[in-house]
Amino acid sequence: MEKKKTKTNLLTLRALKERGEKAVFLTAYDYPLASLADKAGVDIILVGDSLGMTTYGCRNTLTVTMDDMVRHSQAVTRAASRAFVVGDLPFMSYQPSDRDAVLNAGRLIAEGGCDAVKCEGGARVAARVKAMTDAGVVVMGHLGLTPQNQAQLGGYRVQGKTPEAAQVLVDDAAALEEAGASLLLLEAMPPDVAAAVRDSVAIPVYGIGAGGGVDGQLVIVHDIIGLFDQFTPKFVKRYCDAGALIEGALKEYCADVRSGAFPGPEHFYSAAVETKKTGNSAGR
Ligand code: KIV
Repeated sequence: MEKKKTKTNLLTLRALKERGEKAVFLTAYDYPLASLADKAGVDIILVGDSLGMTTYGCRNTLTVTMDDMVRHSQAVTRAASRAFVVGDLPFMSYQPSDRDAVLNAGRLIAEGGCDAVKCEGGARVAARVKAMTDAGVVVMGHLGLTPQNQAQLGGYRVQGKTPEAAQVLVDDAAALEEAGASLLLLEAMPPDVAAAVRDSVAIPVYGIGAGGGVDGQLVIVHDIIGLFDQFTPKFVKRYCDAGALIEGALKEYCADVRSGAFPGPEHFYSAAVETKKTGNSAGR
């Protein structure tokens, strides 16, 4: 069935959950990939601070700044005519105070054009979630493996593996919902734990590496199209190898330039073309 073209909003996402339809959630950080995701019918795009690793080649997400997030959010929201766009609040943009949280969430909405913001943590960020919600911002919570706390977690580890740890996740979800979070993301936990968290709250709950018992699935776009090869989490399904395809094309380009096969006569401007029409690489 043809996907409808109207912009996805919070009510659309709640309706998907009520109908038992899974939401498709994907990261994107730039205009080209966000355009493709939007055209493909993705419901929610996350401008994740994972861009520190996928796009800037950093070891983790901790060096990503608000300015980075605003700039990338602008590129994505220009492309997303249908998808709901969530902007990630980077490390130390909301942790220090409610005021920081509100002002930085406001930047992602007002400057970046995002529909919602995401922050990591449970009860300990509930006050921030309440402050942002009270200021009129749609907030997505994020529980389980929270990469901004990876040093405290002892690395990128599966969470909620004991009954006690699973109960903390359920309690944290309740605290976030009570504080006003409209959406929730669960990362890296056993499927039964994620399903229990999902069943304990009324808001839509999405998962990344959290099994199928949630309201939708998130993956990192670079992981599923083969553009990030430093490690591949167990839950990733690879849909294509864009990295190999692009590398092959660039090798051909190198060979063509070195052999003189490129440029050919078909790529030359003829003398009849007026200079002002030649443009430059940006003007085409
Ligand atoms: O930044 C991101 O892409 C995320 C996902 C890993 C959940 O927060």
